[in-house]
Amino acid sequence: MDTSLVDWCASEVAALRAAGTYKTERVLESPTGARIRVDGREVLMLTSNNYLGFANHPRVVAAAREALARWGNGLGSVRFICGTQQLHKELEETIARFFGAADAILYMSCWNANEGLFQPLLLEEDAVLTDALNHASIIDGIRLCKAKRFIVPHGDLAAFESALKEAQACRRRLLITDGVFSMEGEIGPLRELADLCDRYATTLVVDDSHATGVLGATGRGTAEHLAVRDRIPIHTSTLGKAMGSAAGGFVAGPKAVVELLRQRSRTTLFSNSLPPAVAASSLEAFRMLMEDPSPARKLQQNALSFRKKMTEAGFTIPKGIHPIVPVLVGDTAKALAMSDALFRKGVYVSGFGYPVVPQGHARLRCQISADHTEADLDEAVAAFKAVGREFGAI
Ligand SMILES: Cc1ncc(COP(=O)(O)O)c(C=O)c1O
Repeated sequence: MDTSLVDWCASEVAALRAAGTYKTERVLESPTGARIRVDGREVLMLTSNNYLGFANHPRVVAAAREALARWGNGLGSVRFICGTQQLHKELEETIARFFGAADAILYMSCWNANEGLFQPLLLEEDAVLTDALNHASIIDGIRLCKAKRFIVPHGDLAAFESALKEAQACRRRLLITDGVFSMEGEIGPLRELADLCDRYATTLVVDDSHATGVLGATGRGTAEHLAVRDRIPIHTSTLGKAMGSAAGGFVAGPKAVVELLRQRSRTTLFSNSLPPAVAASSLEAFRMLMEDPSPARKLQQNALSFRKKMTEAGFTIPKGIHPIVPVLVGDTAKALAMSDALFRKGVYVSGFGYPVVPQGHARLRCQISADHTEADLDEAVAAFKAVGREFGAI
């Protein structure tokens, strides 16, 4: 082996440590939930995508356990060879029905869904337009296709329009946006983008990972929230956040699109099928939300309540409604130190700084769950106030 590779890795890691951008992982000693155990003590979890509190819900866990007993641990194969069970078909049908799509295809993750989406649908003579702040999986998926790329400044509708004009020279156009941008909890302008797509004969695709089960009166996501459900022809999302919190992703859309993805999308053709226990747990999550959407409403109320309390306490929170609640503190070192101080006070919340967010925009990213009680939220706000005063953030 060339030992210079190991030396180079070590020097890169040392540079990350020196720059203060080295990531550490806290080790949980319990399932995730409103309260978790870390380092031998209980802390309030304020930084998880377990939006509906389904991650450790008895029905979700029981569904996974039963599936393990009935369908086994896995299939040892990709879907089209010998890796499709009734369970996978049922989950796809349920997802399609839930979103009012003609069909849906499962992937191991939304990362895989996004990575496998563009290459089968777009050829060299086509164009793809993408918001500059779209998720990394969209960026990587686009890199794998040969279409002409237009990376448009975040949320800039005029720039989208001029890119669409330029892209008229291409055979076909696909425009992709996150439904919710995860650093801000900011909702994408789907109505305006749908208008542009209509005007310039372009297919709109929305990655709704942070909105499935989260936004809209029945948890159907950003399009439901903005009342544009019939205007989003294709959408991708994850099962790893609100809908069971384990793993899995999907693309939902027209039958022919999904059929072509089944034939040509490399992340499904060359990767194992979703483990039965994971498929069953997400299926149960969809059933629960369809039976009773009240957890989505509770989540939305919790988010509004926390946003109000934190704003009243004097913190800088960008306007919005999403359960991602960024608390802006400016300096990266301050955000990380505040995250540590909050943890010592029993509140687990992540600090994000440069280069994940622009210089000077460091923040603590709170994420609210339907599982949080009002008392949990009050406890979090009290800890924030104490730490905020200590660090001069309020
Ligand atoms: C917008 C968006 N798309 C895709 C993903 C990837 O989802 P998964 O964890 O299912 O790969 C994420 C997860 O962070 C996300 O926020």
